Amino acid sequence: MTRVVHTRADLEAARAGRFGDTAVVMTMGALHDGHLALIQAARQAAKTVIVTIFVNPLQFGPTEDFSRYPRTLAEDLKLCEAADVDVVFAPSVEEVYPGGTPMVMVDPGPMGEVLEGAFRPGHFAGVLTVVNKLLNLTGPDVAFFGQKDAQQLALIRRMALDFNLPVEIVGVRTVREPDGLALSSRNRYLSAPERETALALSRALAEGATRPTVPAVLEAAHAVIDEAARAEPPLALDYLALVDPGNFQDLREDYTGNAILALAARVGTTRLIDNVPLTITGEAT
Ligand code: PAF
Repeated sequence: MTRVVHTRADLEAARAGRFGDTAVVMTMGALHDGHLALIQAARQAAKTVIVTIFVNPLQFGPTEDFSRYPRTLAEDLKLCEAADVDVVFAPSVEEVYPGGTPMVMVDPGPMGEVLEGAFRPGHFAGVLTVVNKLLNLTGPDVAFFGQKDAQQLALIRRMALDFNLPVEIVGVRTVREPDGLALSSRNRYLSAPERETALALSRALAEGATRPTVPAVLEAAHAVIDEAARAEPPLALDYLALVDPGNFQDLREDYTGNAILALAARVGTTRLIDNVPLTITGEAT
């Protein structure tokens, strides 16, 4: 049976006697099959599975969707129960930030300044700070994060390495709808026509991923995005980039090796991100 706790003290009590072999899945709630894939991976990896549900104000900009972000705790708890989660930690903002807005935060460094970091200033400092806190509070051996937030995952891995955090960070493949749309809690904001336009994100990635060189990948992906920009309702691109998975810097035109093709775009008032890992061979196949 899933035990639901809202305070640090109750979390500590729920963890008592469960030392070692613990996995954590951190979420902001509004759980969908993408989160359930993380929970399943955690369930297979560890004896105790903790899921955190916390909409972290620190990672939202002043004009972003913090107040309208979907909060569906009752349904989330049912899903956690069905997925055999041991403990759900669903704290209040005061419980996570007892001293108010933290004076000391994790600095994401140069990898946190590009792509999402450039469009959402302060976002990754907020993410890394809360992830650090939740790792301290839940004390897991292993933590699972989705590859859909590829830059977030790379930064969390880097924080674990640079801060010698005693936890293994595991990435889990993006879960998609049959038509390619990556699952996201924000998909529920989309109207039917907006959702149709939003399919251009995954189509652009799929087109780009078939090409052998950096310029060809970008050209193929941009062609799909340009068409969607003329659709009704239109797609507005924030960025489309082909980057090094280790630092998220743009790749040189003659690069070969592993890469991530990532993009962010707005459809109506909804902002969506997606990415695909690929290998640049440099040669047509
Ligand atoms: O990916 C998310 O849902 C959030 O960024 C996370 C990791 C739970 C931190 O608030």
